[in-house]
Amino acid sequence: MTTPSRSGLFRQATDCRLDAFSESISFDRRLYSQDVTASMAHARMLASVGLLTEEECARILETLAEIQEEIAEGRFEFRIELEDIHMHIERALIARLGDVGRKLHTGRSRNDQVVTDLRLWIREALDRVDGLLLQLQRAFWGRCAGDLDVVLPAYTHLQRAQPVLAPHYWLAYCEKFARDRQRLADCRKRVNVCSLGAAAVAGTSLPIDRDDVARRLEFAGVAANSIDVSSDRDFVLESAFALTLIAEHLSVWAEEWILWSTAEFGFLRLPQSFCTGSSIMPQKMNPDVLELIRGKTARVVGNLQTLLVLVKGLPLAYNRDLQEDKPALFDSFDTVEACLALAAPVVEGAELNRAAIAERLDRGHLDATTLMEYLILEGMPQRSAHHLVGEFVGRAMARGVSLSELPWEEYKQACPQLEPSVYDVLGVENAVRRFVSYGSTGIAPVREQMARWKDRLGIPS
Ligand code: ARG
Repeated sequence: MTTPSRSGLFRQATDCRLDAFSESISFDRRLYSQDVTASMAHARMLASVGLLTEEECARILETLAEIQEEIAEGRFEFRIELEDIHMHIERALIARLGDVGRKLHTGRSRNDQVVTDLRLWIREALDRVDGLLLQLQRAFWGRCAGDLDVVLPAYTHLQRAQPVLAPHYWLAYCEKFARDRQRLADCRKRVNVCSLGAAAVAGTSLPIDRDDVARRLEFAGVAANSIDVSSDRDFVLESAFALTLIAEHLSVWAEEWILWSTAEFGFLRLPQSFCTGSSIMPQKMNPDVLELIRGKTARVVGNLQTLLVLVKGLPLAYNRDLQEDKPALFDSFDTVEACLALAAPVVEGAELNRAAIAERLDRGHLDATTLMEYLILEGMPQRSAHHLVGEFVGRAMARGVSLSELPWEEYKQACPQLEPSVYDVLGVENAVRRFVSYGSTGIAPVREQMARWKDRLGIPS
C-alpha cells in the first residue's frame, strides 16, 4: 500500500524501515475522537461555504461517526504504513466513500489538523486535571475541622521552628494547588484557539470560514497568523510546565508525609489500604504511594526538558520534529493524573498521631520567637530581645528544660526588669494563641482561612 500522504510525484514505494521509523500511530491514536470532532466541524464549514454539498457533508459526517465508533470499540485496524491517526481516519473515509471522502482534506493540512486535535485533547485534559486538583483541595480542607486541636511543629531548614495549627499546614497545600489551578486556567486560554485553516503554512486560496470552524469546536478565537500557528507549540510547553509544578507540589507533600510517617517523626499513620508490605521484613508498612508520587515527578520534569529542547532552534514553521511532542506531553498528563487520583484518598485516610505529636512538642523551643515578640511588645528593641531570648534558651538547654519550665530566678538573673507574666506566653499552646497577623497560624486567622476556602471550594454548608 502506498503512503497516502505521497502524491503522484513518487515512483517508488516507501521503504518499510521508514514506515516503522516515522509512524506516530502508536501514540497519536489517542487523538482519534478529537480528530473526528475536528473533521466533522471542518466538513460542516466546507458545506456552509459551498465546497461540499449538503449531501456530501451528511455522508462524511455519518461515516466519520461510524469510524469513531469502530475505533472506540477496538474494531479498527491500525497499520504503521498509514503513519498517524489523521491518515488512518481519512483513508478509512476514502475507502468507504471514494471521491466524496477525498474532498474532506480541502482547505486544511495535517499541520493545522494535528495542532487542532492536540488543542482539543489538551483542553479536555486540563479540565480533568483541574477537577482532580479540586478534589485534592477538598480532601485537605476536609481534614481541617477535625484537626483543629492539633498543634504541629513547623520547620525551617528541617529544624523545629514555630508551633502551628495542623489546619494551617493543610491549607498551605490548598494555596499551592490553587495557584496550579490558576496556571491551568491561564494556559487554557492559549490552548483554546483554533488553528484549523492555517493549512500547511500560508493559509489557503479557498474561501473557507475559519470563524465557523472555531465556533463549532468551541474555541474562543482563531489564530491570526498561519505561519505562527503552524510552528507554535507554546501551549504544549506551557501545559507541561503547569503539570511540572503540580508534580513538584505533590512531591514536596509526599516527601513531608514520608518523613512524618517514620518512627523518628511519628506524626502520621497512613491509611493501610494505601501502604505496602515487605517481602522479608514482616513488621514493615511502607509508604510506596508517596514514594512513587515523588519518583514519578522526575518523569514529569524530564518531559518538560524534552519539550524545551525539542522546539529550540526549529526554523519556522512546521518541522517533523514536532511529532515528538506527543509522547512527552501525554506522559506528563497521565502521570500527574495518576498521582492526583491517589493523593486525595491518602490525604483523607491518614490519621494524625496526636499523642506522639503532643508528647514531643516541648522539644525545640518552639515558643522562643513568641517570647521575643512578647518582649518587643514590652518595649524592648527587636535585636536586644532576640539576643536575650537566645540567652534564655541557652539557660534552658543547660538545665535540659523547656522555656516554660525554666525557673523564675534564671529569667530574673538574665533580665532584672522582666515581669512574671512572661509565663503567659510560654508553652506551645500559649504561643499559638498569640498569633494574630493575617495569614498566620492563630486560631482566628486559621478559622478565617478555613471559611474562605469553604467558599472557594464550593463546599455546601
Ligand atoms: N504525525 C505528524 C505529527 O504529529 C503529522 C504530520 C504532519 N505533517 C507532515 N508534513 N508530515 O506531527
